[in-house]
Amino acid sequence: MNTKSHNHKLLLETDEKTDSTDKPGIKKGITIIAAASENDALGKDNSLIWHISDDLQRFKKLTSGHSIIMGRKTFESMPRALPNRRNIIVTRNKGYLAKEAEVCSSIENALSLVKDDMQPFIIGGGEIYRQSMALAERIELTRIHDVFDADTFFPNIPETKWKLINEEKQSKSNTNNFSFSYLTYIKI
Ligand SMILES: NC(=O)c1ccc[n+]([C@@H]2O[C@H](COP(=O)([O-])OP(=O)(O)OC[C@H]3O[C@@H](n4cnc5c(N)ncnc54)[C@H](OP(=O)(O)O)[C@@H]3O)[C@@H](O)[C@H]2O)c1
Repeated sequence: MNTKSHNHKLLLETDEKTDSTDKPGIKKGITIIAAASENDALGKDNSLIWHISDDLQRFKKLTSGHSIIMGRKTFESMPRALPNRRNIIVTRNKGYLAKEAEVCSSIENALSLVKDDMQPFIIGGGEIYRQSMALAERIELTRIHDVFDADTFFPNIPETKWKLINEEKQSKSNTNNFSFSYLTYIKI
């Protein structure tokens, strides 16, 4: 291969890895955000299995100022609605009331409420992720490089439908008991 075509190939590869929407204020679309282990574990007994403070900080940074849509069980697993975000709970219970959160009867209704948000986040849990895979345009997945016993799992991410555009490996440290990777996928 001559140098020119080699450089062109490199440029193409760089372009493929760069998410052109990866700038603040630019539409990134409906985003699923989750942390799952190598066996896709998400949670057990309606709570999280691990505590990774760097990942929680990243979750806060990405979701602050945006809408967060969650299943009723995930909402009830948290101490309260998350501050600086529009909290929306999805439930089939028409009389459901929650402090500092809005309530919707379907994921589609929740998404139509947040049309003005350039990046609404779907924050779980397993039931809601499963039903949102067809609706989402982006996945921010923290993959924890370990295997856990769980009762709730993240759905499969088919390679035919999703493209990995960014991967950041994080090592075990004083603050994180596990090694993990931040993975960003976009819908093909
Ligand atoms: N690792 C992570 O990133 C992460 C993130 C979030 C949660 N989690 C974990 O996931 C677990 C909870 O997940 P889950 O799958 O059990 O529950 P979930 O998805 O949080 O909530 C399920 C509930 O959402 C409502 N719902 C689901 N589909 C609906 C629809 N189409 N229309 C209207 N309402 C609908 C129903 O509420 P009603 O029964 O009230 O009708 C259903 O019981 C917990 O262990 C939590 O800690 C992990």
